[in-house]
Amino acid sequence: MLRNTTARISDPCTIVIFGATGDLTRRKLVPALYNLRREGLLDTNTTILGFARREWSDDYFRTLLFDEGSKHSRARLDGGSWPEFIGRVSYIRSTFEDTEGYTALAERLDAIDAEQGTSGNRLFYLATPPESYEDIIKNLGAAGLANSPNNGWTRIIVEKPFGHDLESALHLNKVVHEVFEERQVYRIDHYLGKETVQNLLVLRFANGIFEPLWNRRYIDHVQITVAESIGVEGRGGYYEQAGAIRDMVQNHMMQLLSLTAMEPPVGGASADAVRDEKVKVLRAVRPVAPTDVNKISVRGRYSAGPGSAPAYLDETGVQPNSSTETYLAMRFEIESWRWAGVPFYLRTGKRLPVRASEITVVFKSAPLLLFQDGPMSRSAPNELSIRIQPNEGIALRFNSKVPGQAGDIRPVTMNFNYVDAFGGESPEAYERLLLDAMTGDTTLFTRSDEVETSWSLINPIIEGWKTLGSPIHEYVGGSWGPDASHEFIGSSGRSWRRLS
Ligand code: BG6
Repeated sequence: MLRNTTARISDPCTIVIFGATGDLTRRKLVPALYNLRREGLLDTNTTILGFARREWSDDYFRTLLFDEGSKHSRARLDGGSWPEFIGRVSYIRSTFEDTEGYTALAERLDAIDAEQGTSGNRLFYLATPPESYEDIIKNLGAAGLANSPNNGWTRIIVEKPFGHDLESALHLNKVVHEVFEERQVYRIDHYLGKETVQNLLVLRFANGIFEPLWNRRYIDHVQITVAESIGVEGRGGYYEQAGAIRDMVQNHMMQLLSLTAMEPPVGGASADAVRDEKVKVLRAVRPVAPTDVNKISVRGRYSAGPGSAPAYLDETGVQPNSSTETYLAMRFEIESWRWAGVPFYLRTGKRLPVRASEITVVFKSAPLLLFQDGPMSRSAPNELSIRIQPNEGIALRFNSKVPGQAGDIRPVTMNFNYVDAFGGESPEAYERLLLDAMTGDTTLFTRSDEVETSWSLINPIIEGWKTLGSPIHEYVGGSWGPDASHEFIGSSGRSWRRLS
């Protein structure tokens, strides 16, 4: 993970995207692959095959990829390398259940290897609804596609959600492992592809000054916020089954928590060394008893606003008697020598005032408050904030004397901003992750034990909500969540950081 990636170029391979007619392919995957191509990081022989049920021709598929991709790509798609790139994209029509579709796929892959020199290297991408994962994996296995001819490699990327609960995640892992070895499996969490998330490890482990402070002795608590200003945007049907806990917490936010709290990996930053440490953190998180859920979590649901934005209950696909949360605040405790007694507060929500994701480490106050009386009392705890998006950067808050005779104190901020420091824009998360998969680096992908441990923490919380009939507090769309969430953190004398 910490190695220089500019030197890496993907092996020539064929990328088969299952569910290629969906949004993800047009908005994220194809633009990401094209941007890699433009930057010379995608081998020129790499070929893309869309596999889906709709009756589309190659030409129709390509036109749609251009039209939709143009709206979402970092670089314009009409640049010099587009015609050549899109010339290597084609489409296979089949249902995911039909075994003949996989026989045709196997033949097509052999032909591509012979014509394009892709050397038997294959990357399967499951971009379908999760209900189809099992059929696709089994059929790939049955068609002999789990291993490549000619000493090539075969890998499979599985999109989120990986399971709906612990049981289904265990089942899916079993299905996957009946066909693929774990080293071939890349469970994607796009948060791990974000530049700032990767920089968290660099900040912690490539600097000498932070690590000595990174523990219960100096840290009061940690806040992890993923705020979104959008609502469920037409995904009400899916979201009803997921809620904030499955959509954001089980995956993205638990990843942020484990990267913040993990120990330095031993023996270098190999994929398994990093993932071992992440799993250890999750194992150290104190499991929540279902009867305690109301003490450690607050759920909310947006009502109408801002402007004419509808209430969650009026979104398409949402049940009138819905019990799904669109906002969630939680507290986790990590039972380790480093973290005992340091709460990790997580909050995420839709229709909050801004889109802003951030990890903030709040340090303990100075042991002796020399300046607590009179005008010198406006000191605030030191905070280190890692801004994941937007305006990626890192900020350190400390107290400073206001110039003049009054001797007043005010918190000030030292800011590092990615764009100012490095210029230009960072690659999209999917660019990084697709390149990693093509070069065989699993560091930024979730291992089977990680996904299972994460679900084992989340399951009792969901159960507890059901059994206790835990309340859902309404909050006005465009506000910072329900009052109950401010009371929740406030009861410990702390408050949510203001994000803008
Ligand atoms: C997805 C969730 O995984 O992440 C969405 O399903 C959410 O509901 C999205 O909007 C947020 O991703 P990002 O990169 O925009 O923060």
